[in-house]
Amino acid sequence: MRLTDCHNIDDFRKLARARLPFPVFDYIDGAADDELTKARNTQSFDAVDLVPDVLAGVETIDTSCTILGRKSALPLILSPTAVQRAFHWQGETAVAKAAEKFGLWFGISSLATRSIEEIAALTNGPKMFQLYVHKDKGLNTHMIERCQAAKFDALALTVDTIVSGKRERCLRSGFTTPPRFTPASIWSYATRPRWTLDYLLREEFRLPNLDTHVSEGSREAVSIAEYFNTMLDTSMDWRTAASIREQWGGTFVLKGVMSAGDARRAVEIGADAIMISNHGGRQLDGSRAPFDQLPEIVSEVGGEIEIICDGGVRRGTHALKALCTGATAASGGRLYLYALAAAGQDGVERALSILKDEIERGMRLMGVTSVDQLTSERLRSRRMS
Ligand code: FNR
Repeated sequence: MRLTDCHNIDDFRKLARARLPFPVFDYIDGAADDELTKARNTQSFDAVDLVPDVLAGVETIDTSCTILGRKSALPLILSPTAVQRAFHWQGETAVAKAAEKFGLWFGISSLATRSIEEIAALTNGPKMFQLYVHKDKGLNTHMIERCQAAKFDALALTVDTIVSGKRERCLRSGFTTPPRFTPASIWSYATRPRWTLDYLLREEFRLPNLDTHVSEGSREAVSIAEYFNTMLDTSMDWRTAASIREQWGGTFVLKGVMSAGDARRAVEIGADAIMISNHGGRQLDGSRAPFDQLPEIVSEVGGEIEIICDGGVRRGTHALKALCTGATAASGGRLYLYALAAAGQDGVERALSILKDEIERGMRLMGVTSVDQLTSERLRSRRMS
């Protein structure tokens, strides 16, 4: 299978599976416990149907929208994801450049393998930095100050990772940061020489946003779960979120809100947006899908705060359904990560071009010429009818 054989996001997944050693693939593809929530995140979009209008004159359409004060060419955000250099040697550079080329917002993780400064120098496109609140308050402050100096457009505080979800595929495969060969996985690395040589011969694996403050000892290979469970601050609460917003002083996003009550609190602390998210099913298995929670959150805070529906998006029509339900935009991680793993920047660009095409085609077939025409009248719930 080659890149030109990829015609949808699931095709990139197949190519990524063939190209990556299994511990790395399972880190991207896997989720918590029985992975029910991960599956439901995508299935939830099938519970509603689009109702198209015809003969609407759709020769010229405009897929753009404004997200957090900046224009986006599509109602789609590339969510922050950790350790991208483990997936492809180009890592975050590939994603940042592809996002800029397609005029999209993207996120950089606290656990990125490119620094805040490197990313800022690389692109003028809209970008958000994702913050994990560490016990080491100096580290949190240091990351915030670096983002301020680098003029990031937004800070996204992830609030669903107080402790790590139980990611059983990672427990079985022994995935660590940085990746390490183990007796159980060595064969898989050996039979994927392209990934393995790129990993061994290209530049060193780093987590540069943490480096200056993380002690030498914790730079050993550790599992992500171990990292979260030892380094992150379990005492984080609404006062912490409010004080981080204040310290940052710029556009502020809460990532991982799932309930209408928490959406209301996000408004109260002055957040500019929430990402309704269960971390792609990687944290609380059994949690509801973001798309299923969207109606009650829209009815609580719609119009007061931007609402981003994060997770499960694999098709352009998923984004259209989220907009019809009242979201400002949809977002996702795996929708570009499989493609990054499959073919670096070329892969991400091909995935984005497919999603762009699906959004444009979907809008034309629905008889809408701009995203503000995507309203609830164009959607029917199967459950209600
Ligand atoms: C993530 N996600 C994530 N979120 C975050 O706030 N900080 C992070 O470092 C990461 N890292 C990460 C790694 C990988 C491999 C995945 C798949 C996801 C969650 C991410 O931002 C987003 O919420 C989910 O990816 C959404 O689900 P989908 O789109 O992957 O189904």
